[in-house]
Amino acid sequence: MPVLNTLADAKEEVAGWRRHLHAHPELMYEVHATAAYVAQKLRAFGCDTVVEGLGRTGVAALIRGHHGQGGEPADDGPVRTIALRADMDALPILETTGKEHASTVPGVMHACGHDGHTAMLLAAARHLAETRSFAGNVVVVFQPAEEGGAGAKAMIDDGLLERFGIGEVYGMHNYPGLPVGHFALRSGPIMASADRITITVTGVGGHAARPHLCADPVVAAAHIILAVQTVVSRNVDPLESAVVSLTMVHGGETDNVIPQSVSIGGTVRTLKPQMRDLVEERLAHVVATTAAALGVTAQFDYSRDYPVVVNDAGRARLAAQVAAEIVGPGRVDAEMVPVMGGEDFAFMLEARPGCFIFTGNGEDSANLHNPDYDFNDEAIPVGASYWVRLAETALAR
Ligand code: NI
Repeated sequence: MPVLNTLADAKEEVAGWRRHLHAHPELMYEVHATAAYVAQKLRAFGCDTVVEGLGRTGVAALIRGHHGQGGEPADDGPVRTIALRADMDALPILETTGKEHASTVPGVMHACGHDGHTAMLLAAARHLAETRSFAGNVVVVFQPAEEGGAGAKAMIDDGLLERFGIGEVYGMHNYPGLPVGHFALRSGPIMASADRITITVTGVGGHAARPHLCADPVVAAAHIILAVQTVVSRNVDPLESAVVSLTMVHGGETDNVIPQSVSIGGTVRTLKPQMRDLVEERLAHVVATTAAALGVTAQFDYSRDYPVVVNDAGRARLAAQVAAEIVGPGRVDAEMVPVMGGEDFAFMLEARPGCFIFTGNGEDSANLHNPDYDFNDEAIPVGASYWVRLAETALAR
């Protein structure tokens, strides 16, 4: 079964929703207008329950399937419920696409395609609410604050999973560089944990011409920056994956003053809990001992932000099979190489088994988080059909 006809026919209409969202982007948890737009549509589609304000500004809607002949449960077993999830937030980037539907909010844009994710899941929700060709329940979830705010965790903490009895979770993200009409996924870790490190090197500031009377945090910071590079190159097994990138260095105001302190910040990415533990432990040790050797102190803060995104083997097989039904088996890479980017759907996959999949945004697409990026409307029927068929297959009558 290729792309569903009704979804192909609705492409322009759904693209209109997508462009409306693109023109009116909102940040983090402040997705008030987007959430209201989503909730109003879900009610109009006839979803059974629409809940707003979950995890501050998240929206979730329940769609009950036809449980078999006569609308009764097909057997005495418990009703199964799966969640399909999209994200709604934009990024603090000044858009440069120059398109007609470009952002009307200066400095804010949908540069990660969450406008497309929301529109595709809305299209699927309408189809599922009309046809209801599944046994069990589907919950469509629209979360705020994917971009660094852990909106998925906020919705879980607010009782999303228990409230609807959700047993499985599924997510999707567009992928620039992958042709439209292609899918990519893998069983096991598919995206990395994303942690933040902050190092504050404190010495004794003073006159730059009298360094012997100071404890120079600039020289110490330089040593620390180089020394932490040995964690990945010397401590991590070469066949494992880890990234340590220091991306911020702040210190000093003028040429003749040795400053009191220097701050360093960056990110750590890993694909396994053991590697995450190892890198954190080695970083703390290298930072502290390098600082001590140079007569300064270093405050090391390690913040575990997003966990590893881990796909369940059985659900990944199901997702690959559904994707292959939509676009053909030759266009589904079911053993893609993991991505070292982070994604807060990880929190949902920690709580329930499920699968996160990538859908092609085109080979010409600008990269995610680039000011020239735009979601590819040609991908709408593909992604929406995947959602519908995934629900119908996972909850086959
Ligand atoms: Ni994103």
